[in-house]
Amino acid sequence: MFHTRLSLALRDGAVSLPQDGRLLVIGPSAQHDLSALPTDRVTIYSRIFHEHAHWTSRGYDTVSTLPDIGFAAALVCAPRSKPLAQAWVAAATKATDGGQVLLDGQKTDGIDSLLKTIRKKADLLGTLSKAHGKLVWFDKADVADWATTDTQLDGGFTTRPGVFSADGIDKGSAVLAAAMPDDIDGRVADLGAGWGFLSQHILQRSGVTSLDLIEADLVALDCAKLNIDDARANFVWGDATQFRPPQLYDVVISNPPFHTGRAGNPELGRAFIRAAAAMLAPSGRFVMVANRHLPYEDTLAEQFNVVEDLDGTPGFKLLSGVKPRRTRR
Ligand SMILES: C[S@@+](CC[C@H](N)C(=O)[O-])C[C@H]1O[C@@H](n2cnc3c(N)ncnc32)[C@H](O)[C@@H]1O
Repeated sequence: MFHTRLSLALRDGAVSLPQDGRLLVIGPSAQHDLSALPTDRVTIYSRIFHEHAHWTSRGYDTVSTLPDIGFAAALVCAPRSKPLAQAWVAAATKATDGGQVLLDGQKTDGIDSLLKTIRKKADLLGTLSKAHGKLVWFDKADVADWATTDTQLDGGFTTRPGVFSADGIDKGSAVLAAAMPDDIDGRVADLGAGWGFLSQHILQRSGVTSLDLIEADLVALDCAKLNIDDARANFVWGDATQFRPPQLYDVVISNPPFHTGRAGNPELGRAFIRAAAAMLAPSGRFVMVANRHLPYEDTLAEQFNVVEDLDGTPGFKLLSGVKPRRTRR
């Protein structure tokens, strides 16, 4: 695992961290073990709400925007998205003023391809291969051209590296947008709102009085703020599976996530369904889209008195639950 490489490299003296100064760790998941680093010198950047909360609850100094100055060294936990990994290397290089950067990643997340590009851009100080991944360390990287840039999609939408569906509208969301009931009104929530595609369609209904966009990825939410200019929209950085609104909703819409990292995780989609039921008023309605193969019907039937299979497509099903059952949570 990740920590094995880091602690091995530090223990064997292959890597030595600067004696003084702060250490920036970019993007560790809750599974990363950072115990090889001196906690009191570490600042953790996380854009994902529950990961940020995880590190904060463990006593780490945490930030939700990338600092651009003031660090002696940085560790980048390579994400799956190459543009995001490169943007994080650029940010780490800037924050350390060209100092030492460690980059840790799994082969399945493309660390070898990243290493190839880094060889051309930086003074490579060392690499350690272990546990299906690599730790790479370097300094003096010339990577200003890797800094985050916005992508403009058709329809005038802005996205940024690493957000869900950064390169184009998600097929499932497009199916739900096209079939979205006209009579959606009242207080509405979009669970896992991403950069705001579905929300923009929801807000085309004049009966909608407010729309909460609940999204765990702060960068996606920042994009949604650029994409949606409507006084009825409220942008909530939060974990949709835990969020409880001050007032119940009339309608909840979602294209729920079904992956954690690379691994399929239908339990996450089920947690979204349970959360939607808990957020809805007694006569409220939940509408969702899902890949045909995902098994959500049982959870919908457990959570709602009425479940409907709306017309979907060969690839996607559109499901609706009405009148949440009131189970104790
Ligand atoms: C399938 S995408 C749908 C995005 C957007 N609604 C769209 O149509 O493009 C699911 C979204 O849920 C977000 N997400 C994942 N886990 C979450 C959680 N626990 N709470 C809130 N949002 C979450 C992801 O970041 C992603 O943006």
